[in-house]
Amino acid sequence: MPSRTELTAWQALQAHANEISTRHMSDLFDEDDLRFAKFSLQSPNILLDYSKNLITEETRTKLLDLAKVCEVESFRDKMFAGEKINRTEDRAVLHVALRDPSDEPLEIDGDDVRSQVKHELARMKALVAQVRGGDWRGYTGKEITDIVSVGIGGSNLGPLMVTEALAAYQDGTLNVHYVSNVDGFQIAETLRDLDPETTLFVIASKTFTTLETMTNANSAVAWFLDKAEDKSYINRHFIAVSSNRTKAMEFGVAEENIFDMWDWVGGRFSLWSAIGLPIALNLGFEMFEELLAGAHEMDDHFRTAPLAKNAPVMLALMGVWNNNFLGRHAHALLPYDQCLHRLAAYMQQAEMESNGKSVNWSGERIDYASVPLIWGEVGINGQHAFYQCLHQGTQIVPADFIGSVEPTVPVKGHHDALMANFFAQSEAMMRGISADQVRAELTAQGMAPERIEEIVDHKVHEGNRPTNTLMLQKVDARSLGSLIALYEHKIFVQGIIWEVHSFDQWGVELGKVLAKGIQAELAPEASVADKHDSSTRNLIEYYKKSQS
Ligand code: F6P
Repeated sequence: MPSRTELTAWQALQAHANEISTRHMSDLFDEDDLRFAKFSLQSPNILLDYSKNLITEETRTKLLDLAKVCEVESFRDKMFAGEKINRTEDRAVLHVALRDPSDEPLEIDGDDVRSQVKHELARMKALVAQVRGGDWRGYTGKEITDIVSVGIGGSNLGPLMVTEALAAYQDGTLNVHYVSNVDGFQIAETLRDLDPETTLFVIASKTFTTLETMTNANSAVAWFLDKAEDKSYINRHFIAVSSNRTKAMEFGVAEENIFDMWDWVGGRFSLWSAIGLPIALNLGFEMFEELLAGAHEMDDHFRTAPLAKNAPVMLALMGVWNNNFLGRHAHALLPYDQCLHRLAAYMQQAEMESNGKSVNWSGERIDYASVPLIWGEVGINGQHAFYQCLHQGTQIVPADFIGSVEPTVPVKGHHDALMANFFAQSEAMMRGISADQVRAELTAQGMAPERIEEIVDHKVHEGNRPTNTLMLQKVDARSLGSLIALYEHKIFVQGIIWEVHSFDQWGVELGKVLAKGIQAELAPEASVADKHDSSTRNLIEYYKKSQS
């Protein structure tokens, strides 16, 4: 199979990039009044405007040719059909099945996926009703008031991000807290004001072996038993979500309190499974169903819309264009909604753990860039922090602006102030301001010509900086579900085009293995192994010696 860079479609894009990179987007807009109409599309619950990229219709045609020759549609269909496209782990990739209400048969290794999903959803629903309704009682007969979710990575970031995003819809029935870091500060702070009699822990770990989660889970049990004193009470206060029932039971969770995950759900795509329990406990099961419904709407769109009208595909192709053909190797996520303040952290795992790879499906080193650095912050705060660099820095960083027509919490005058900035920033990044415009402005303000010449170069914004704009009606469970699914499918499409295995994460293993060995060496009586390099060895020795 030819490498991606040997494909005619790839080379045609490369040649086209060389031509178009001399153009300015501002001129492209001036030349064509229909640019927005041509380069925007409506997908379920989200308007996507990708017109502020350095593209023409020819660019789009060429990008679509690349998507076709890379067989994006055929791989997409394989994913939905449950084929084992995660080849390095020999697994299907079926997070889409978690939000698909259909009864169409879908089997993996002889197991009926539809009934597995429905069964776990029904169990979640029953648990949520019991706990929120006050029927689930703690060991002294009191109602549960607080949920502590213990998990990390995909077993934390999704539920945490969604809980924050939908905070405006909480009804106060239950408080939800998240503990992920093995730094004891976090669990100590979280538990400080909680009461073991009214606290329910959800230990979320697909493998049930993750060091951070197990350490926190053990501390949670110790904290609980310190007051409860009797291990038999654990079953009223500990629930597990895992694909490793044996380990969860060995840990001490009662079998009936274990919710299943399956190996066909990747951790970073798992918030739709029982990993999402804290969301449902916090907001009610109906809202969790709305989240699933929004994601399913986007799944249907991704599965059926023609490529040129397909939001995840076009978002992915803009990323490939900027990254691989225009050489932009970072990408910012800028939500103009305070409630989406954890979105960038969540997407960092989703995108970078999925597509942060350097070898192709055959294990050969790729000679093009895979995932760009994904980072971001809530838009308006970022404006007063790093946007200087977005507007005038030497690195051009493409960005996604995400905003809503309606605020989640209306406060007079606020939303228009927020959205005025939202619209202004991408316009400024696209148009920029030339030296002549700066001169004219300063002259009109009455500045002396010599002073103008001193500062004019510093005030120039070159513009021509690419952005996508995504607009929701309002951040609610349904639109949030669609938004997350949109990005999940963008990641999928890019993984196919980059020919990388998006659904494994071997790159996180080496550090974990080394940490295990080092943790043993940190014991006072243990010696530090010679095999370490002199930096690591001396740092460990310094740490040990400096302990009082
Ligand atoms: O960081 C690696 C990773 O395996 C992630 O992929 C995963 O989401 C996280 O650790 C947590 O894993 P688990 O759910 O098995 O505890």
